[in-house]
Amino acid sequence: MTGNFDLNVRFQTVAPSRDIVVVGAGIVGCAVAYELARRGASVEIIDDRGAGMGATQASAGMLAPFNEAPDGGPLLDIALRGLEIYDSFVAQLCDDAAVTLNYRRSGTLEVARTDAGVARLAHTQSVLAARGVDAEWLDRSDLRRREPTLAPSAAALFIPSQGFIGAAELTRTMASAARRHGARLIEHGRVKRIARHGDEMSVVTDRGSLTGDTVVLAAGSWSGQISVEGVDAPLPVTPIRGQLLQLQWSGPLLTRVVWSERCYVVPWDDGTVLVGATVEDAGFDERTTVAGVQELMAAVCDLAPSASAATFVAARAGLRPAAPDHLPIIGRSSALPSLIYATAHYRNGVLLAPLTARVIADLLLDDRIDPMFEQTTPMRFGAF
Ligand code: GLY
Repeated sequence: MTGNFDLNVRFQTVAPSRDIVVVGAGIVGCAVAYELARRGASVEIIDDRGAGMGATQASAGMLAPFNEAPDGGPLLDIALRGLEIYDSFVAQLCDDAAVTLNYRRSGTLEVARTDAGVARLAHTQSVLAARGVDAEWLDRSDLRRREPTLAPSAAALFIPSQGFIGAAELTRTMASAARRHGARLIEHGRVKRIARHGDEMSVVTDRGSLTGDTVVLAAGSWSGQISVEGVDAPLPVTPIRGQLLQLQWSGPLLTRVVWSERCYVVPWDDGTVLVGATVEDAGFDERTTVAGVQELMAAVCDLAPSASAATFVAARAGLRPAAPDHLPIIGRSSALPSLIYATAHYRNGVLLAPLTARVIADLLLDDRIDPMFEQTTPMRFGAF
């Protein structure tokens, strides 16, 4: 389905929302709760585990729209907007919470070791050039000089504007900043159903119900497991497992994020390195596996042979929430207009959390309909 949805679906009255229940305390739910609370709404956020304990805890925190959407299209447009507001969102949060975050826009290197890989990089470079985005082509010897730790590769593309952030730390900071703005975080309540009772919305959990004038559903991979009054089918969100390694590096570290065909690597200042990530259809199985760990170990040793001297610290797994078209689902429900979806961020939850929070707060508090909803509306999948 394409465009032309009635994005004006709303309550008969257009009074701004003030009393909002956010379902899900992952990076997206916490960003939404923070932004709403900061802008004066009364917010409750509910999850059956603590803030950032789902997919967020297994994220490498990459901010890399050009790696995630190398062919352009609507995902790239949305992801670029996500990146554009990151500096100001982080600055605002750090100021508000009086903290510093591990946030780096030190660029990323994508390496190619095969002819097909070089052709793919050349294509990405042309997409970047068409958008006026800086990128530097490195040949084998440039790359060797820049990152001697890497195994020889045919070429690489350096994209200076990309980077990474500590996703778990960001999520915890947003949750506590939201609390300081009066939000209430309710842990340990599994949401079963969202319904409307007169003018109120109710969120029914296994431990009782919450009420508000609006509900934001940001439950990641579990978004389709929550029944919504008036909606027959589950929201089409599928969990896609990603496993991630944490290593303690020994010897010279990489200087920035590196992507290869088989893995990506994020070096932290403390000498630890994150290596991600598998892409697996494993249902709701959140375990790490020998096969997943083996795959990532082999990929990182191939990319940077000195990885074999690193110490294994941990492996983590998380479930990325994917819609069939891999675009996020952000926008008002047609079945229950006081329900707003904020889910299916798939590989870009960290990158898109601030943007999601801003457009939802603009919608709920200022009645502003962002043009992005045209692409991200739940209505593209039917009457949700
Ligand atoms: N954004 C990287 C991943 O999902 O693995």
